[in-house]
Amino acid sequence: MTVSSAGGFGIYVHWPFCLAKCPYCDFNSHVRHQPVSQEHYAKALATELARYAEMVPGRTVDSIFFGGGTPSLMEPKTVETILNEVARLWHLPDTAEISMEANPTSVEATRFAGYRSAGVNRLSVGIQALDDKELKILGRQHSVSEAIQAVEIARKTFPRISFDLIYARPNQTLKAWEQELNRAIDLAADHLSMYQLTIESGTMFQRLYAAGKLEMLDPDLAADMFDLTQEITAARGLPAYEVSNHAAPDAQCQHNLIYWRYGDYVGVGPGAHGRLTLEDGTKLATSTEKHPETWLGLVETKGHGAISEDRLVRDEQGDELLLMGMRLHEGIDVPRYEQLSGRQFNPQRLLNLQENGMVEWVSNTRLRATQTGFSLLNAVIAELASD
Ligand SMILES: C[S@@+](CC[C@H](N)C(=O)[O-])C[C@H]1O[C@@H](n2cnc3c(N)ncnc32)[C@H](O)[C@@H]1O
Ligand code: SF4
Repeated sequence: MTVSSAGGFGIYVHWPFCLAKCPYCDFNSHVRHQPVSQEHYAKALATELARYAEMVPGRTVDSIFFGGGTPSLMEPKTVETILNEVARLWHLPDTAEISMEANPTSVEATRFAGYRSAGVNRLSVGIQALDDKELKILGRQHSVSEAIQAVEIARKTFPRISFDLIYARPNQTLKAWEQELNRAIDLAADHLSMYQLTIESGTMFQRLYAAGKLEMLDPDLAADMFDLTQEITAARGLPAYEVSNHAAPDAQCQHNLIYWRYGDYVGVGPGAHGRLTLEDGTKLATSTEKHPETWLGLVETKGHGAISEDRLVRDEQGDELLLMGMRLHEGIDVPRYEQLSGRQFNPQRLLNLQENGMVEWVSNTRLRATQTGFSLLNAVIAELASD
């Protein structure tokens, strides 16, 4: 396997618009009260794709991911245009995973069939909570019954579906989460993403928290919820394959695996990031302008919206591989880490981590975090990365 094909090759397309801004969210998402010209955006996304195809030509695309923002506000025609462009620029096999994030309002569910016809074969629905009062607190634009209906439509429309939940919400009890989780698994197909609520800077929740108007859960209770989530999902056939992602065997999200396995991905659209291994072996970290209209103007005048394209030195590549790979249940390939970073783990630190039950060898070459290590992952990674 060549270095550039290790971890796979994916395309990320960012759609930066939402119906409303959720108070916890710090993703690059913007509300526009006038419809945007999807034709202009589709053309600009195609322009960025063509530029990246010159930088990393001839690759086979393992996955495409439409993320946001709210990509289910895209017209199916826009999605189709982008998929046709990817197929024109690279090799896009029938087996490629083509995912889209969707919000479960009834209006968006009416577009699901159009996305399927355009080529999307996996839908990830943002449900967030199975309680109407909680959905209101989270600022969501849909009810529980709309969400359930959207999942039912998605199940009939796409070969693969997943949905997202947020737990460790203010005032949530362990018992309430246990019930909600079991109900979610009843509703789920073969993949679920469950994130602990985090207070992100610049969000409404952060302002409320700073003003003492929002109480976060006790971290010990949040940790108990994490442990319970691992136990219940494993017992019910959807074990964790990454910190927040659970799936039946063979149902993991291939696109996210590319990130965590430190593969290559093109990132187009406002605020998208990419990691590309060029023909000469250089690993490039790319990022684009976040503000949608500024990004559009840049692409239309300069031919791309990139604001940084940095060559990553070996040390940085090693740090990134650790940060991403140690999130995975399968762990990291240590020889690849050594080859990329040009460094080796400090033997004494590694031994200490093993003796303290934080990491374990899965095979001669693979190292992973244990269950205990997962709950202290940042500290484990920092220790592994130290001289
Ligand atoms: C790009 S976002 C949202 C996609 C889609 N617009 C939606 O809202 O469903 C992907 C996921 O990140 C999670 N998320 C976003 N902000 C979060 C936060 N502050 N804490 C925990 N999870 C968060 C949510 O579960 C969300 O579905
Ligand atoms: S959580 Fe989703 S819908 Fe809400 S603002 Fe963020 S990206 Fe938009």
